[in-house]
Amino acid sequence: MIRFNARMQSDSPGTDSRSLAPASPRGRVLVVDDEPLKRITLQIELSEQGYEVYEAADAPTACRIFDSKPIDVVVSDVRMPGMGGLDLLSYVKRARPGVGVILMTAYATVDHAVLAIKRGAHDYITKPFTTPELVAKLDHLLVDGASRASDGGSDDGVACFGQLITVSAAMKRLFAQLASIADSDRTVLLCGESGTGKELFSEAIHRSSARAEHPFVACSCAALGPGVLESELFGHEKGAFTSAIRQKAGRFELADNGTLLLDEVDDIPLEVQVKLLRVVERREFERVGGEQPVRSNVRLICATKRDLSEMVRAGRFREDLYYRLNVITANIPPLRDRSEDIPLLARHFIQKHAALAAGPLPQLSPAACEELLRHRWPGNVRELEHVIERALVFCNGSAEIRPEHVLPLAPPAAASDSAALEPALSADGHGLADTMADIERRMILVALRQCAGNQARAAQRLNIPRTTLRDKMAKYGIAGA
Ligand SMILES: Nc1ncnc2c1ncn2[C@@H]1O[C@H](COP(=O)(O)OP(=O)(O)OP(=O)(O)O)[C@@H](O)[C@H]1O
Ligand SMILES: [Mg+2]
Repeated sequence: MIRFNARMQSDSPGTDSRSLAPASPRGRVLVVDDEPLKRITLQIELSEQGYEVYEAADAPTACRIFDSKPIDVVVSDVRMPGMGGLDLLSYVKRARPGVGVILMTAYATVDHAVLAIKRGAHDYITKPFTTPELVAKLDHLLVDGASRASDGGSDDGVACFGQLITVSAAMKRLFAQLASIADSDRTVLLCGESGTGKELFSEAIHRSSARAEHPFVACSCAALGPGVLESELFGHEKGAFTSAIRQKAGRFELADNGTLLLDEVDDIPLEVQVKLLRVVERREFERVGGEQPVRSNVRLICATKRDLSEMVRAGRFREDLYYRLNVITANIPPLRDRSEDIPLLARHFIQKHAALAAGPLPQLSPAACEELLRHRWPGNVRELEHVIERALVFCNGSAEIRPEHVLPLAPPAAASDSAALEPALSADGHGLADTMADIERRMILVALRQCAGNQARAAQRLNIPRTTLRDKMAKYGIAGA
């Protein structure tokens, strides 16, 4: 797996009191063990080896540190009271799949470690072990991973940037581009349809930047009237308006030294755009109702679903502000244009949502995968995640996710969106008969699912004889015919 992270080879401010932070760390390691002696020894020995080390006595504390620090590798005991190492592994995989995890285990629990590897841990080490043994494993994950990233090489074709994963070449280029500018203070404009990962991209840029230790603040500018939005962004003074009973800091102040995401930036009313332009140019503003200039050192990331240049032409977005925001633009491709990501993301979401349940992870059957590949995904990755969450409920602990568990998928797009309908009719060479057969097959799968596989009841629901249902199931290769 290629991990894109601009901070891997750079210096860290290392401000956390629990960490021992060398000037230029070999990597950031979070050590989790409920045995104090083992934990502290590891902390001292790894720090001496040049790592920046954070330590936690239990998994919940580890999750909190993990959420707030740019950790590269987690080294965790398997057996701990309450939340154990396997649960922590699921948490890490869900939050930032690119972070390495090494589990420490006694001989008696090697089975656990094997299960952990199956669930995505990168390595395990059996106790007792020496520090050089652990260092070798850490370096394998850190140094090797970093050099592969800078070579553009890959072992399994998967790249990750923060919580984002991909196998698509276009997305990998985007990861590399954004990781390379993460450490600068340049404004980034993220353009992409709903659910393509704009918010995750902004978090990944922040976490890869020198600002990672400072706040990441997001502000949705959608559908807020000018007054409310202005107060959200810039704060207000006490008495600025009737309900302003005390002074309030705005998002620009809250994000000081960190990163501010202006989501749905296209929705900012023209009158607020003027004030925003001034902040972007001078990093200075007044709170609503105030006269004192307030300075804020923020890195700005803007996200939009719309074409801002089109809005400039239509006079709905200020041209001068557009040029200020459009310094580095990233166009995130919709999921239908990178269908190679669909199986990867589907499996990722199965792991994310089923990892804490008992028993083996359900597999995605080839037929269900085909079903997912056929869909146009108007809601992009978010829609895929919801489909998998629902499928996990429908498959009810069985070993395989089958087509009836993922169907019905949402219609391609609003009926008025004729462009979205065209490929289904022409690009795939689908004529009317094929399309009707496809609908028939899906209806049968849905009926079977709703009737828990009972063919007599499914035939009743479809209002067809049971023999007809069996014939059609055989025709479409639906299991159980
Ligand atoms: N490449 C990816 N890898 C893993 N998860 C992803 C990826 N892209 C998106 N997601 C998931 O998809 C969901 C939507 O992502 P996000 O909220 O960042 O999208 P967005 O572009 O901001 O959407 P919107 O415009 O609707 O706000 C999230 O739950 C996120 O976990
Ligand atoms: Mg968003």
